[in-house]
Amino acid sequence: MSVAEQSIAGAEVRGHGFLASSVGRKVIMAATGVVLFGFVTVHMIGNTQAYMGAKSLNGYAEFLHSMLHGAGIWIFRGVLLAASGLHAWAAISLTLDNQAARPVGYRETQSVASTWSSRTMRWSGFILVVFIVYHLLHLTTGQLHPAFKAPQGHEYFAYDNFVSAFKVPAVAGFYVIAQLCLGLHMWHGVWSFTQTLGLSHPRYDGLRRNFATGLTLLVVGVNISYPIAVLTGCIH
Ligand code: HEM
Repeated sequence: MSVAEQSIAGAEVRGHGFLASSVGRKVIMAATGVVLFGFVTVHMIGNTQAYMGAKSLNGYAEFLHSMLHGAGIWIFRGVLLAASGLHAWAAISLTLDNQAARPVGYRETQSVASTWSSRTMRWSGFILVVFIVYHLLHLTTGQLHPAFKAPQGHEYFAYDNFVSAFKVPAVAGFYVIAQLCLGLHMWHGVWSFTQTLGLSHPRYDGLRRNFATGLTLLVVGVNISYPIAVLTGCIH
């Protein structure tokens, strides 16, 4: 039995359900990708409060933590965690299936084109996971932030934590690199998502490309502006 036949047989052993099919897992990846993408966009917009001063950003942090008497943020965290877990699971299992099913004598041009994109997705995805873990321990819980000011009752110090964080050039640099990875990941993600929706057609490809590029540049550009604004003293 060839490698491809073995892999197909393996997939059959797993079952014929929605999640066992590669289309089902692509749909899961696209749907959870939209949730995560929506979060990143809303988060980017929320953080623009930093440009309006300490009162605005701290008030925004307090609002997030007091929604639905404090339950709101936990519902939102649960949705985010479930979406991230499903997204990573679908990506990893599809990659493993693709690797196992790839015939040995694949034509070189095809193989180079298809693996460049997926390899970029894998390492940008991995760096994003590292970034998110660091980011949570840095700006949310503070373990990795030497000057972190923890909330006192209903008083939040998101602004002080934000400014003191990005005053450290290495930290600001890491945030910028992580946002560039986010950009790469988002661009390919939005592009493939519109393909999963069935919009892959010469008539729509220009629109798909512009949509992916415009949204990515907006989110990444604004996110990168935060560490740069602190480093250059525009936010202090
Ligand atoms: C330069 C870009 C970014 C800045 C300045 C920033 C800033 C912040 C700040 C200040 C908080 C703490 C809010 C609070 O609890 O008071 C936070 C929380 C968070 N950020 Fe970011 N962030 C950035 C990019 C990102 C990205 C790209 C992601 C995801 C890919 C992300 C995911 C999160 C998550 C999951 C939380 C925790 C929300 C919660 O409390 O459950 N952030 N961010």
